[in-house]
Amino acid sequence: MSAKILVVDDDLESLKLIGMILQAKGYQIIAARDGQQALEKAFQEAPDLVILDVMMPGLDGYAVCQRLRADPRTSTIPIIMFTAKAQLTDKVIGLQSGADEYLTKPIHPRELIAHVEAMLARAARFKATARPSLKAKVIGFLGCKGGVGTSTLVVNVGVALARGPAQGKKVALLDFRLGMSTLALQLGLTPRESLQQMIEQPIGTLNAEAILAQMERHPSGVMVLGGTPAPLGTAKPIPPLHADAITRHLGAVVDYILIDLGSDLGEVNRSLLRLVDYVLLVIEPHRIALLLAQAMLAGLEEIGVGRHRVGVILYHSIAAAVSLDRGTVESFLQQEIKAIVSPAAELAFQAAEQGQPMLLLQPESVPAMQFHQLAEFLTSL
Ligand SMILES: Nc1ncnc2c1ncn2[C@@H]1O[C@H](COP(=O)(O)OP(=O)(O)OP(=O)(O)O)[C@@H](O)[C@H]1O
Ligand SMILES: [Mg+2]
Repeated sequence: MSAKILVVDDDLESLKLIGMILQAKGYQIIAARDGQQALEKAFQEAPDLVILDVMMPGLDGYAVCQRLRADPRTSTIPIIMFTAKAQLTDKVIGLQSGADEYLTKPIHPRELIAHVEAMLARAARFKATARPSLKAKVIGFLGCKGGVGTSTLVVNVGVALARGPAQGKKVALLDFRLGMSTLALQLGLTPRESLQQMIEQPIGTLNAEAILAQMERHPSGVMVLGGTPAPLGTAKPIPPLHADAITRHLGAVVDYILIDLGSDLGEVNRSLLRLVDYVLLVIEPHRIALLLAQAMLAGLEEIGVGRHRVGVILYHSIAAAVSLDRGTVESFLQQEIKAIVSPAAELAFQAAEQGQPMLLLQPESVPAMQFHQLAEFLTSL
């Protein structure tokens, strides 16, 4: 498939000319007439390269460049600034705002093509080596809505892994929703400020050892990073690039990463979902949850997490005489249910009271067996 190049220029003649030169070489061209359009197209189309004019009304090329670099969806796309501004300071600002190359107009078509080819070749080499070299298997846990048991599942499956098939291996539980994590609390650990501190650090200074040293540890072997409790909306949100970097660093040194994603597909989760091998989608057996689950499956598909990478978990936190059965749920969602968690209200209450996961409190209980089975399934992925 030919490379897709986004050409951004407010001058229609330049836009046409660059487009023609590149099209003649077989490249697929997307055009944008201003900075705002450039950002929209870059996010929608994920081009392989951006050729960016500097002087444009509204958002100029420098600002576009900075925004592309700041967004995890576009942060690694090669950018060539191509402009009539030939002063040394202009070049320096261009490169400082994140451009990989700075070319000045006019330019011979052959020279432009040579730069484009070299840049795409370099990006391809980089991609081949910089594919997340994640040693860890990364599993995302997503609720179709809040309160369905997502965090309970993360904690219990994490402990099941650490005590069972992944014994002796490193299992990390992460929750990047600052203020909202209950992972440490469910394990009877004292939540730390580690995550809050990490987001104050420049990304380049983060490293695996430092992150490991700041995680809370549970006797079962699992490690937790999740922040301290704070009401929703009061804690500073984690920048997506920090969440991405922390996960990648840990992914290079631990064996399993289980991420509590809560129940949204916001910017941070969309960035994390690119690192995830498999998603467990937690649902409840009633109509409203199913409609939300359906929307979630469609949203996941849209960001590249196809249904073959999603396992639906039917979580019964309420013992009800009437609830939708497995077959009905499967035919509604057009997706097989990977596992069921049975209701155990008293056990869940005691677990919360004692800061002990259900699995350790009553190892013979039905939910405990179900958590173990799910852990086995994850090791088979
Ligand atoms: N198998 C179960 N049976 C009955 N109640 C359960 C079961 N598992 C968990 N619960 C209870 O359900 C409630 C919600 O659980 P949990 O906090 O894990 O959900 P969540 O989806 O992570 O919620 P939030 O959206 O607040 O993060 C808790 O009070 C928990 O004790
Ligand atoms: Mg939760």
